[in-house]
Amino acid sequence: MPRTVPTSTARQATLARPGTGPVFDRASGARVWDTQGRCHVDLSSCSGAAPLGAGYRPVVDAQVAELHRSGGILPEATSPLRREVADRLVEIFPAAQAVEFFRTGSCATTAAVRLARVHTGARTVLTAGYHGWHDWQVQYRPGMGLADRDPDTADFGYDLTLLDRLARRRGDLAAVIVTPEVNAFPPEFVREAERITRAHGGLFVLDEVMTGFRYAWGGYHAATGVTPDLITLSKGLANGVALSAVAGRAAVMEAARLTHLSNTYQREVTPFAAALATLDASAGGTAVEAMRAAGARLMTGLDELFARASVAAWSRAWPTMFDVVFADPGQGRRFFALLRESGYPMEYGQRFMPSAALTEEDCAGFLEAAARALPAAAAGGGPRGDGTQAGVRYAADHFAATRETVERWWRAAGSPA
Ligand SMILES: Cc1ncc(COP(=O)(O)O)c(C=O)c1O
Repeated sequence: MPRTVPTSTARQATLARPGTGPVFDRASGARVWDTQGRCHVDLSSCSGAAPLGAGYRPVVDAQVAELHRSGGILPEATSPLRREVADRLVEIFPAAQAVEFFRTGSCATTAAVRLARVHTGARTVLTAGYHGWHDWQVQYRPGMGLADRDPDTADFGYDLTLLDRLARRRGDLAAVIVTPEVNAFPPEFVREAERITRAHGGLFVLDEVMTGFRYAWGGYHAATGVTPDLITLSKGLANGVALSAVAGRAAVMEAARLTHLSNTYQREVTPFAAALATLDASAGGTAVEAMRAAGARLMTGLDELFARASVAAWSRAWPTMFDVVFADPGQGRRFFALLRESGYPMEYGQRFMPSAALTEEDCAGFLEAAARALPAAAAGGGPRGDGTQAGVRYAADHFAATRETVERWWRAAGSPA
């Protein structure tokens, strides 16, 4: 039964961010129902959190059983399950020798930066891409009303020339932290970023919160041969349950003993039960393969539609986490608004992260809705496309990459045009 939303109570809270669309109430697999009982299809795996699909039964059962068995929380952040998950991560991820757990990706990336600074004794941290909401992580975004800026942190906009210049000018390099934007930059880019980092004496941190369980089994670094000192993980680690980790070289992780990285809810046990069930269900890359198949189906279908309608838009490039880029962003926004009305809650610029639960019926339904939406969204024509110029704008808007670097790497990351 759909849950009804109270329209009047004696005292109603004002939500700081009330949201504008439907109020979602429950989800199962890739399907999600709102409070009106309407079914939508989620193409984002709940922002990447649940690659096996929402409510994946073995994970839910493991969590509930562990809650009853253990009580859910312990006086200290120690438990056999915690150790077991750490052991599994060390098996799965080549860069992981030692592991520390948190609840969110933001905490994991902040911890990685702290560990790098404590280990090296240096201050400067150069960043590229999204790493979360903490002050140091959002400073490249203008107009975000930031009270504080970390003066020792700077964003290099995925621009290797700028990385080199900033590292030289600022000196005292503790680390470079990069989120692999796999649809814009090929692995050579990340390997080159690692090389420059090491030339300046810094640690190389790969933010695998997005890619860790989605790019490939073993993460981006395993698939591409990058050798980071630290990695961060979260989305998909415990299929929808808040759990994150920083992992890496034992010598660097030892810095955890010299600083304060603790928080209250590290004592919870159930996230580790959820993680073990998730890792069992995903072992060897079975979940990644299902996500890849669904993503490839959606990308091919969308590209056929765009080509047939002569609309300058492209889906690209990595099927488990692909972007859709329009030469005319206005068309893109209209296209996604219409899809949203049809029951596919996405926004232009939001990444497609299909779950392993997505069915052929879900994919076919989405492509039919896309075929209906496209003529209205693109009515009146628009700019003819050069994919690189569209990519320049897209990458600047969504992850603050400089024009020069996108022009250099965009085609190598997956030819759109
Ligand atoms: C690459 C990357 N790093 C860090 C984060 C922050 O994770 P969280 O939202 O769990 O704090 C995200 C979230 O989208 C992310 O994509």
